[in-house]
Amino acid sequence: MSCPVFPKPAKSKASLWKVFFTKRHSWLDALYERSYGMKMGEYKLPGLTLYMVNQPELVRNVMVQNMANFPKNQMLGDILEPLLGESIFTTNGEQWQKQRDMLDPAFKHARVQQVFGLMQNAAQDMLARLKNHQPGQDIDPEMTFVTADIIFRTIMSAKLNEAQANRILEAFVRFQAESPKLALKKMFRLPGFMQRGASERQRMAAAKEIRGTIEDIIRPRYQQAEAARAGCPNARAELENQQDILSSLLLTTDQSTGQPFNFNEIVDQISMLFLAGHETTASSLTWSLYLLALHPQVQQDAYEEVARVLAEQPMSVAAIRKMVLVRDVFREALRLYPPVGFLSRECAHATEMRDKKMKAGSTVMVSPWLIHRHKDYWHNPHSFDPYRFTSKELKTPLSKSYLPFGAGPRVCIGAAFAQQESSLILASILQHYHISMPQGFEPQPVGRLTIRSENGLQLILTPRNKQEP
Ligand code: HEM
Repeated sequence: MSCPVFPKPAKSKASLWKVFFTKRHSWLDALYERSYGMKMGEYKLPGLTLYMVNQPELVRNVMVQNMANFPKNQMLGDILEPLLGESIFTTNGEQWQKQRDMLDPAFKHARVQQVFGLMQNAAQDMLARLKNHQPGQDIDPEMTFVTADIIFRTIMSAKLNEAQANRILEAFVRFQAESPKLALKKMFRLPGFMQRGASERQRMAAAKEIRGTIEDIIRPRYQQAEAARAGCPNARAELENQQDILSSLLLTTDQSTGQPFNFNEIVDQISMLFLAGHETTASSLTWSLYLLALHPQVQQDAYEEVARVLAEQPMSVAAIRKMVLVRDVFREALRLYPPVGFLSRECAHATEMRDKKMKAGSTVMVSPWLIHRHKDYWHNPHSFDPYRFTSKELKTPLSKSYLPFGAGPRVCIGAAFAQQESSLILASILQHYHISMPQGFEPQPVGRLTIRSENGLQLILTPRNKQEP
């Protein structure tokens, strides 16, 4: 199998100031050759020490065994706060546990299967839009649209119209572009006034725009829930009839206090689900399509698998489950281009790891990007090989070396949801189109909030029924 694109690492570590001034637009550019083989790295920044933890045993220590000593990083919380408020993605301790308990029921397998029909409607609309796809047009905006549309339909029963979508997605692009700049300023401990320039104002305005759209959709539903709680039987029946995740959140209560989420808490959680749920999935779908375009034989095998399954039954949860290769193409895209390339934690109390004495307050990074490409854990780590997941020759068990959805109690709540929608979208595209790239085009991976292609993904979609025999 050939080797898909990844940023060539520098021979050696860059100086701190070089990182600050030249690597701000992508985390991946700050990596160097040794990063891809090390078990644990230490980086000293002014006023902050950062540890990169790449060894499965150490990862388990951080994410599972001593999770209480490695809470989510406050810096990440501060960066995402304008958009996500105090949502489950950034909270810790009791507050996080309470939120997790309240969100869990909405993401149970049965509930995720229930929303398959809504996902399928969004996939059908995507196929209708793809009829206008021009040869060589960037597919990334469509993957962002369809995944955002799925979130809106399944979480809020709202269909995303094009004007709303453009406004919200464009605001998110601005938010995402400015965020790494703030992260670096925080890491380098620049004073507060230097963190509040034009870039920060743009970020805040973008976050306000996104939250405003979400608040407008949630407000009438929240009022309905309040009426239900006040005893209005119609309001309760209407709420229960809605199969979306918002109604599950509106109906759920904290087990210890019996209290429901308040309006701001619901907006925080839904904004977070919007961000965590569409950006990550869009990224991995775009990379999956790139990998399929680059590997025509795998694409042909996956197409035949889809055609075989759909000859026997209509598109459904059961049909998707039979498409093992489609699932594994997606899994391999998540290995090579994990959307969340770095998971950030803080060391709450001083501790020791390998030969390093870690002070309280230091930053700890677990990197799916590096672990998934580590030569000690994978055969041909930089190559695309979706068949590796069904072969018996994995170098290390997946539970140790594969963590696109994180690990431990804070593992992604939406993993089953993401897998279901991604298989559906990939199968729908494979069923109707042959996928290729214009000659000479190569996507450029950059690490921002997620790992995306800086120049998008130019694709040629040839309808299957118009292909030469
Ligand atoms: C391919 C798609 C996705 C990927 C790769 C992904 C990845 C991740 C990762 C790595 C984490 C853990 C972060 C950490 O430990 O620091 C996470 C957490 C989370 N994800 Fe996802 N995610 C995806 C899709 C989704 C979807 C579709 C949803 C919801 C609709 C979702 C909701 C969440 C939530 C709520 C958390 C926080 C869980 C907690 O802290 O308890 N994600 N995700």
